[in-house]
Amino acid sequence: MARYEVIGGKPLNGAVTISGAKNAVVAILPAAILVNGVCRIENVPDISDVRILLSILEGIGAKITREDGTVEIDSTDIHSTCPEPELVKKMRASYYLMGALLGRFGKAHVALPGGCNFASRPIDQHIKGFAALGADVEETEEYVALQPGANGLQGNRISLDVVSVGATVNIMIAAVLLPGQTIIENAAKEPHIVDLANFLNTMGAQISGAGTDTVKIRGVEALQGGTYAIIPDQIEAGTYLAAVAAAGGNVLVKNVIPKHMECITSKLAEMGAEIINYDDAIRIRCDGKLHHTTVKTRPYPGFPTDMQAQICVCMTLASGVSRLTESVYETRFFGYCSELESMGADIQINGKTAIVTGADRLYGSTVTAKDLRAGAALIIAGLAAEGTTYVKNIHYVERGYERLIEKFTGLGAQIRRIED
Ligand code: UD1
Repeated sequence: MARYEVIGGKPLNGAVTISGAKNAVVAILPAAILVNGVCRIENVPDISDVRILLSILEGIGAKITREDGTVEIDSTDIHSTCPEPELVKKMRASYYLMGALLGRFGKAHVALPGGCNFASRPIDQHIKGFAALGADVEETEEYVALQPGANGLQGNRISLDVVSVGATVNIMIAAVLLPGQTIIENAAKEPHIVDLANFLNTMGAQISGAGTDTVKIRGVEALQGGTYAIIPDQIEAGTYLAAVAAAGGNVLVKNVIPKHMECITSKLAEMGAEIINYDDAIRIRCDGKLHHTTVKTRPYPGFPTDMQAQICVCMTLASGVSRLTESVYETRFFGYCSELESMGADIQINGKTAIVTGADRLYGSTVTAKDLRAGAALIIAGLAAEGTTYVKNIHYVERGYERLIEKFTGLGAQIRRIED
């Protein structure tokens, strides 16, 4: 098992380039199953979730070539609608194979996904969507099996009971090749929903409204190959910004869409960081002196739950008492708060809200990542802390951050990966 060693207390300086968005690419790679021909996808991050997905696609017959950040997928010869369960269970977004296989072949047999278990993560809204599109759904504790119901598969109107990124994506993918129109109401609006729609439209789909709460998909007969570049990762960018806010420094975060970052940068500015927006970059300067604030996580365009842990680290170092309320995944605090407390943080959890009393400093400790973003937060805490921090369970972090050691080292951080 590998771990990270982080020697803290040094400000971060220089420039860092953000990779393609994890949550976009894990939707777009399965969606390539729908395409007759070769999809050339650029700006694909080299993270373990992507490697697993590509293995799954190869296992069902897709031809994959990969060079640097570009992946070519030819789904013409896919011969199976039952992807390898052991691989499917290794990650969360493998549930998009359900929508993709249903859309292309009218059936799918997919194991229930694994990935970060920071909360109970039901998929009832995905299932509701597939059923509304006419699928017969068999759901067991091990897998979901889909096949056409008595009236066949066709577009329909679906109103989600909760705003779900995963359900919005899965229904969009499933509906693209079905006859008729599908309308998703109360849809999620995250940047990666828009990216998926742009990808599918580039390949010939007819999707409108992505990025609003009503997405319309007019079914087309086929999609053809083409080239598409993934958007920059909002959460990776937010993680580097939070690291500079916590550890201090002056960093240009390059290859970002500043509009996607407003929900995060506005809070960091409120806490005392200086933020300068350029067309596709953001400069952050911070002298390490932060003020307390109040944050409530919300679906986009609100403050993302995937930045909850990272902003919490900033709060542990801010003057005064901050309040951090989680409204998407209530149990997410348990993934990292006790680890931060072992570093000297003062956090009281009261239901959905963490009350964070800022301290002058954190101290190095040995801590364990319990999910991807919790792991990122512990690295930030280590960078800001006095002394040496060891972060264990880093396979979570490697699921979603490309070349993390290289990027932080490039900013002057003392961080290395140790193979035990
Ligand atoms: C996606 C992101 C994840 C992020 C989350 C919230 C990907 C691959 N992952 O996860 O990084 O933390 O959005 O922004 O994009 N819910 C239901 N029933 C469902 C689906 C969801 O009740 O069928 C609930 C969930 O329990 C949660 C809320 O809806 O409370 C939002 O979940 P959702 O947006 O679906 O999260 P994911 O797509 O799993």
